[in-house]
Amino acid sequence: GITLGKAVLGWFRLLNDPGAMLIRPFQSVDPYPQYERIRALGKVVPSRLGMLLVTDYQLCNEVLRDPAYGVAPNSEVGQPDLGLDGLVHPLEDSFLFRNPPEHSRLRRIVSPLFTPRAMHERQGRIEAIVDDFLDQLAGRDEFDLVGEFAARVPIKIICDLLGVPDAEHRRMTQWGTVLAASIDGMGSMGQVRELRATLRELNDFLAARIAEHRAEPNDDVIGRMLADGTMTEAELLATSGLLLAAGFETTVNLIGNGVLALLANPAARARLVDDPDATDAIVEEILRIDPPIQYTARLSLDGALLAGRPVPAGKVVLLLTAAANRDPAVFPDPHRFDPDRPNAREHMTFSSGVHYCLGAGLARMEGGIALRALFRRFPDLRVAGTVQRRPSRVVRGPLRLPVRVTSRQ
Ligand code: HEM
Repeated sequence: GITLGKAVLGWFRLLNDPGAMLIRPFQSVDPYPQYERIRALGKVVPSRLGMLLVTDYQLCNEVLRDPAYGVAPNSEVGQPDLGLDGLVHPLEDSFLFRNPPEHSRLRRIVSPLFTPRAMHERQGRIEAIVDDFLDQLAGRDEFDLVGEFAARVPIKIICDLLGVPDAEHRRMTQWGTVLAASIDGMGSMGQVRELRATLRELNDFLAARIAEHRAEPNDDVIGRMLADGTMTEAELLATSGLLLAAGFETTVNLIGNGVLALLANPAARARLVDDPDATDAIVEEILRIDPPIQYTARLSLDGALLAGRPVPAGKVVLLLTAAANRDPAVFPDPHRFDPDRPNAREHMTFSSGVHYCLGAGLARMEGGIALRALFRRFPDLRVAGTVQRRPSRVVRGPLRLPVRVTSRQ
């Protein structure tokens, strides 16, 4: 039987396990020193929690591009059955969690909406949305940068893309927060109940949007999916839900992390305001040094190799992409914020291989426009209180960021 001594020893071992950072309370945790401790242990670090941890840039890239690895949905990584009773989960049931060829079929239907050209056509609209939200802050000298700006921009933009009316944005924000927190796995029965309730609302909501589009066809995202004619109802729900959730729960954190990075780096902030040509490089460096998505996982399939050695099928490999972004072999002096790095764009914040973020172009454009306009409007923007972080280790960014500004009317 389990003696007290064994239990204490087991607990102690777990606390010292390289994978334990993934189960520690999130609020107090600065993940970057922890990644360095894992990096120091080697290229492939086994955790007693059962998975293999990878911080090495080349190795992360290899695994993400290797067909001998597949996606690793929560149900495959030891999470309990959530009893979702046929509800469609916009992340787990979407092509984000499908392997080729199913993945390729579904991705191909929506990818034409995210080409560089399609993004270019939306630029003016995005600038107008950002300016409008900044206008609404005129005359204020304190506000929550996340709630009143960083979260509103991407929600408005993705809702525009999906044809969702403004009145629904607030509900959307709440659903997004619950979904983003669920990526870490379920911490309690209360959280499971909350997720189930959220999914029910989201499913009903998306089903209604799809029905509207059926009645009145148009050429926005849902319209395109319907016009394709090959998608099942569940695929329609999952894909529109994926675009919605992926479209804003990440970009809000690019803007939030970007504000924090620029406040800590006044030279970059001045350049962002003065030189429009510097925007892209600054956004890439923000994405590299403080990614909204910190890591992802893959499951080994038959015949998989890792760093040249065979791995049994069904092993979870955790790709710490935020750590790969600080691999000194690829990014010299990796902890320094330096927009002049020639290769910042090679960061792995948008993943790699077949699941490379479909919205990367949109996110880059939104981030650049939002950050530049914000600091142009409020040159003396500063933090005015405690920064509260998101309740997640996968999704990183401020949940509340009180700031003070001197408003120019
Ligand atoms: C996939 C990050 C913004 C749509 C991904 C993946 C990452 C990621 C890491 C792949 C996960 C994996 O390989 O396991 C981000 C970040 C964003 C962002 C950091 C913002 C800074 C967006 C936006 C959209 C979007 C604005 C627009 C709708 C998607 C979709 C996928 C995806 C559809 C699934 C791709 C696939 O499985 O083939 N994103 N994303 N993302 N992202 Fe993004």
